[in-house]
Amino acid sequence: MEHQTLDAFPDNFLWGSASAAYQVEGAAKEDGKGESVWDRFVQIPGKTFKGTTGDVAVDHYHRYKEDVALMAEQGLKAYRFSVAWSRIIPDGDGEVNEKGLEFYDKLIDELLAHGIEPVLTLYHWDIPQALQDKYGGWESRQVIEDFTRYADILFQRYNNKVKYWVSLNEQNIFIMLGYRMAAHPPNVVDEKRMYQANHIANLANASVIRRFRELEINGKIGPSFAYGPTYALDSHPLNQLAAENNEAFSAHWWMDVYVFGEYPKTVWKYLEKKGLVPAIEEGDMDLLKSAKPDFMGLNYYQTATVEHNPLDGVSAGKMNTSGKKGSSEASGLPGVFKSADNPYVEQTDWDWDIDPVGLRIALRRIDSRYNLPILITENGLGAYDDLEEDGSIHDDYRIDFLRKHVQTIQEAITDGVNVLGYCTWSYTDLLSWLNGYQKRYGFVYVDREELDEKELKRYKKDSYFWYKKVIETNGKEL
Ligand code: NOJ
Repeated sequence: MEHQTLDAFPDNFLWGSASAAYQVEGAAKEDGKGESVWDRFVQIPGKTFKGTTGDVAVDHYHRYKEDVALMAEQGLKAYRFSVAWSRIIPDGDGEVNEKGLEFYDKLIDELLAHGIEPVLTLYHWDIPQALQDKYGGWESRQVIEDFTRYADILFQRYNNKVKYWVSLNEQNIFIMLGYRMAAHPPNVVDEKRMYQANHIANLANASVIRRFRELEINGKIGPSFAYGPTYALDSHPLNQLAAENNEAFSAHWWMDVYVFGEYPKTVWKYLEKKGLVPAIEEGDMDLLKSAKPDFMGLNYYQTATVEHNPLDGVSAGKMNTSGKKGSSEASGLPGVFKSADNPYVEQTDWDWDIDPVGLRIALRRIDSRYNLPILITENGLGAYDDLEEDGSIHDDYRIDFLRKHVQTIQEAITDGVNVLGYCTWSYTDLLSWLNGYQKRYGFVYVDREELDEKELKRYKKDSYFWYKKVIETNGKEL
């Protein structure tokens, strides 16, 4: 393949970048916003790096115009952001807060005025705390109705303005970190509850997609899924089997439900024996089957490498997405631990494997199993950056990372995969949930050193200018 001529990026390819409400907005208590589970969770001592919170974040709520101006100058084609449910319905199921909607009206209009396609994520992990207190959030079936009502408000308000909608962001991560590892809200360690909450999240996801169809919204909708392919450590048949198992537990378990409305058999049987399968009620499977997405949103950061686990013979894996190397709990396998290092790849400052080829493999696997267009909704490098005295940031390591990933996207397009666009993570630097503000992903550096709210100055990194060129030349100049 290396010597083959590559197909050009399609003319309408969405060169984008992404963020999420809690990570950028700040204004945690302004204009009637209600408390979300993250506003509460970060108060628990020891949960986040030095107790950092998103109270101010990078103050995008007040600086959205400045941020959009930077995007426009760069030529960005798409901006993915999320709406904070608790701004729209502060207690989750009661009165609608017009002021909250007005913020997103302004943001969307600003984007459109600059020719930037808004990609709206309905849920990026911040369920209203009131619903958590009232009925246990994702553990109650009531959330299906409440989430659908919230989505409905946004569908109707932004129909014809927003064409790309993301339903749930990284369901696999918020469920596993929230209910297996107590590393996210609601701070629980309970396998049974985790699988049940996951089933309810699946139903909620399907319900909003069904509503989207009923309203005949003029656009496309799909979930964003955190996926990195699993490799076997070597060709030992048991290691190969372990890789297949990990693929089933960490990918098919979710994506099969989104696309086919079915739980994969092997995983289901395994969980059934452990008494962990969720309770399925009448009509559930019909709902799941009725809500096929228009595209698969892919958040790609790294691959996983696994080897046979002699403990129970199923598989073992290191975490293949948002987490630290060696966190086997997130591999999707209850009570299994054994991780394998991939000797062929380097790691980031946070020990995530750097593997651009893995992105091509991810795109091909999703394409061949699900046959859907793919929107890359996240990909990026978390690193320490240095702000020089003259205001420059020489993040050549980020340019190198992004360049290699863009190249493999082009290779995947040449392989025949339908890739709609590429949103880097992230646009500005932002709050990295558990790692505070020192782990930076953006094209735009935000100086939070002094945390003087009047400051929070933005600086363009070298990668900002690199991506500008990529967009200008539609990927010809990398
Ligand atoms: C995926 C999540 O969607 C995003 O919120 C997070 O910051 C990045 N991964 C990096 O960890």
